[in-house]
Amino acid sequence: MSTPPPHEADVYVGLMSGTSLDGIDAVLAEIGPTGHPRLLHTHYLTYPDSLRAQLLALHTPQPDEIHLAALAANELACLYAKAVRALLDGIAPASVRAIGCHGQTLRHRPADGYTLQIGNAALLAELTGITVVADFRSRDIAAGGQGAPLVPAFHAQALQHPGVHRVIANIGGIANVTDLPVDGPVRGWDTGPGNMLLDAWIKRHNGAHYDRDGAWAASGTLHPGLLAALMKHAYLRLPPPKSAGREQFNLDWLDVTLSSLNEAITPADVQATLLEFTAISLADAVIRECKGTQALYVCGGGAHNAALMQRIRVLLPNVQVATTAALGIDPDWVEALAFAWLARQTLHRTPGNLPAVTGARGDRILGAIYPA
Ligand SMILES: Nc1ncnc2c1ncn2[C@@H]1O[C@H](COP(=O)(O)OP(=O)(O)O)[C@@H](O)[C@H]1O
Ligand SMILES: [Mg+2]
Repeated sequence: MSTPPPHEADVYVGLMSGTSLDGIDAVLAEIGPTGHPRLLHTHYLTYPDSLRAQLLALHTPQPDEIHLAALAANELACLYAKAVRALLDGIAPASVRAIGCHGQTLRHRPADGYTLQIGNAALLAELTGITVVADFRSRDIAAGGQGAPLVPAFHAQALQHPGVHRVIANIGGIANVTDLPVDGPVRGWDTGPGNMLLDAWIKRHNGAHYDRDGAWAASGTLHPGLLAALMKHAYLRLPPPKSAGREQFNLDWLDVTLSSLNEAITPADVQATLLEFTAISLADAVIRECKGTQALYVCGGGAHNAALMQRIRVLLPNVQVATTAALGIDPDWVEALAFAWLARQTLHRTPGNLPAVTGARGDRILGAIYPA
């Protein structure tokens, strides 16, 4: 496979499937010679309920999990390929330089020296005829880093302003921030839960995949005792670099925390409190670690949660809060764009991690390449 010349515009696909387990965000983007992205097309594919349930189950140890994970990876590759076909809609695969595929995380354990994103990149290359770059996180972990978050380098590329201290907050299943000060290093880390606990709690109580606009949370009342108990989570006190997943924030932990209170709390009040927990853990991190922030731009599905956005605005009264739409990038596609950009970094033999973010020993070229 030939390496593309470093200074020409190229077209890439980015595929993001995050911890929310909602589905696949697919973007087609032209990335210019300076690395600046231009969004050409987008496509979203919801996971079938059966796959979603299987992936969720595979987050915890279970019998025959290696075989089951391999089958799920194959199914994912077929869905990724389907998303790419719909995205390209007649555009020749040969005109796409590469697909950057995040894969679906089943385990994220940097302290144990590994992270696992499945998706069968070989099969995806076979099905699409396009070079695939995958497994972006492992190299950073091999270099002593967290392997996450990886979006900050892209945020710096596409959203930094020379005269305004911006923070980008990506609210997916987990929430992460990127600090883009006017002077000083770009930093970033996972602040704690994004939509994950909200999704899990509403799913248990009425079967919905998510709390649309945060309406159910808004119908409840914050429970101060529960909020205080949630805020005791040790992860929140760890200094960056740090990253989180379903390992840290999940229903089992919520159930233990609830039962420790020995009090009946209505499901809607729990949801209201979970929403506040998400907002406060994020806002606290911005206040503590990103001093002097002038503007916060939210992306990820959480940008659609009106109640959550409202609470973030209240908790950060001195910060202008908007979504990345205000900067010209639709919040739904920022992370998939980042993986298109990261694929380009890999093909150009250019680092994709930021050691100041992940804690890795140095810059590393990320990913594994599956040639077309
Ligand atoms: N209209 C909405 N109201 C509230 N929450 C929403 C809305 N749209 C999306 N979300 C939330 O966003 C999540 C998906 O966000 P996403 O950025 O795809 O996360 P991930 O990267 O973890 O997959 C959904 O699970 C849901 O919680
Ligand atoms: Mg998603």
